[in-house]
Amino acid sequence: MSSPAAEPANLMEAIVSLAKRRGFVFPSSEIYGGLNGFFDYGPLGVELKKNIRDCWWNDMVRRRDDIVGIETSIIMHPKVWEASGHVAGFSDPLVDCKVSKNRYRADQLFWAAVVVDGNTVGYVSALESEKTTEELQAAAEQLKRKKAIQGALAPVQPKDFTEAQPQEIAQIPSPATGNPDLTPPRAFNMMFQTNVGAMTDASSVAYLRPETAQGMFVDFKNVVDTGRVKLPFGIAQTGKSFRNEITPRNFIFRSREFEQMEMEFFIHEDDDWAKWHRYWIDWCTSWLKSIGLPDTHLSEYDHLKEKLAFYSKGTTDIMFKFPFGVQELWGIAARGNYDLGQHEKASGVPQAIFDEATKKKFVPHVIEPAVGLDRIFLAVLAAGYAEEQVTDDKGNTETRTVLRLSPRIAPVKVAVLPLLKNKEALTTRAKELYKKLQRRYAVFYDEAGAIGRRYRRQDEIGTPWCVTIDFDTIEKDGSFTLRERDSMQQKRITEAELFALLDEQVF
Ligand code: GAP
Repeated sequence: MSSPAAEPANLMEAIVSLAKRRGFVFPSSEIYGGLNGFFDYGPLGVELKKNIRDCWWNDMVRRRDDIVGIETSIIMHPKVWEASGHVAGFSDPLVDCKVSKNRYRADQLFWAAVVVDGNTVGYVSALESEKTTEELQAAAEQLKRKKAIQGALAPVQPKDFTEAQPQEIAQIPSPATGNPDLTPPRAFNMMFQTNVGAMTDASSVAYLRPETAQGMFVDFKNVVDTGRVKLPFGIAQTGKSFRNEITPRNFIFRSREFEQMEMEFFIHEDDDWAKWHRYWIDWCTSWLKSIGLPDTHLSEYDHLKEKLAFYSKGTTDIMFKFPFGVQELWGIAARGNYDLGQHEKASGVPQAIFDEATKKKFVPHVIEPAVGLDRIFLAVLAAGYAEEQVTDDKGNTETRTVLRLSPRIAPVKVAVLPLLKNKEALTTRAKELYKKLQRRYAVFYDEAGAIGRRYRRQDEIGTPWCVTIDFDTIEKDGSFTLRERDSMQQKRITEAELFALLDEQVF
């Protein structure tokens, strides 16, 4: 028996702790104190990540006739990043605290004037969170009390630091010191630089890619010339990207080295871009649901027209309700033909293709669904994690930690458990089944400890099914006990039925 699943008080803490304890995610270089913004994936994490990537690749590339995949190098010609605009403009606004040496992203640092009876009597600041406005209001009340000012305090009007005027910057307190120690925002380029070859001078400067997308644009002509593709069609790739984020945070949500899964969908210049944009938003949403993300956690955010780049026709983000707030998961951008046009100009190599129907040459337009694999990884952990009270046959109650991962992405699909460790007939049959399953699936063999404890170990890592080999298996009809993770229901199942179930649910 189980009570309804309850979210722990601090879901993020619970996820980070489970990730470390069970070998999903470790801080990078941990024995040296870790490196902020970098993570390692452990034995179960690497399986979960691979499964998410494989599902995306199978659905996005292999099961479609209009999309092909590529893999481009992480370090590309530096001119790629000049043409794309990253060298000049891939920056976040950075604010320094002159005393504490803390650094903030200006658009994540909020402030408000403290207004009493219509007069500004001071300023307060707070970092972006779900409670920014409440924190600013509380700080404003405290400041009024401290200065013993009489009168009516107006509700705070939070603004981010990019909106602060010089005379305000001179008075806004640093969150670290409480004094006005903050510098004006300055553009901080997030590209990681390196040098190619033996010389370390300006001529050898290169960059680790900050997105995978440019690989698809730069190889566009190669794919068109070799890939038997016809508009509309897409080019997809998955791979590492690197950004020197000012404030990496929220575990793997924003890190400095992460993996992207991007697809550039090229369309005719006269095609209805809005129709394709909608098509890809819907496709991405239903794909997220297919790997187990609940509808209730997903929403859409349309970027404001006035904040879009001049070439952009529209961008919609699929948002996810993370434990720390609703945040971007997947961006779907209609980018016109800006990128191919830029590379045509910079390289001198024409990117236009010939349209048989109109006998005209044109540079195709593009719709770009771009998502972070690590972000999806965090989303499935956050949506799947639950702690529930369960009562066993003897009436004992305990807390069951369960990861409700979809069978499509669960790191282990089935655990094979002989009922008893010391009965050779049971272990032999269990190992035989285990080896047979292992040819197609990630499976786990466990003979250690009470069966209930073995179930719990699998619940915690999200294994959808456990199969127990018992005396009925070897003495009667060969069937096993199949125990289902979420319902904890058990039923008898034959080997053929087990393989059929897996075939239906896993891929
Ligand atoms: N080519 C377009 C592009 O890269 P983006 O919005 O900067 O667009 C796409 O990134 C996706 O990559 C984001 O929606 C997010 O899922 C993921 N992403 C971006 N920066 C990230 C970071 N620092 N850490 C983890 N994931 C990140």
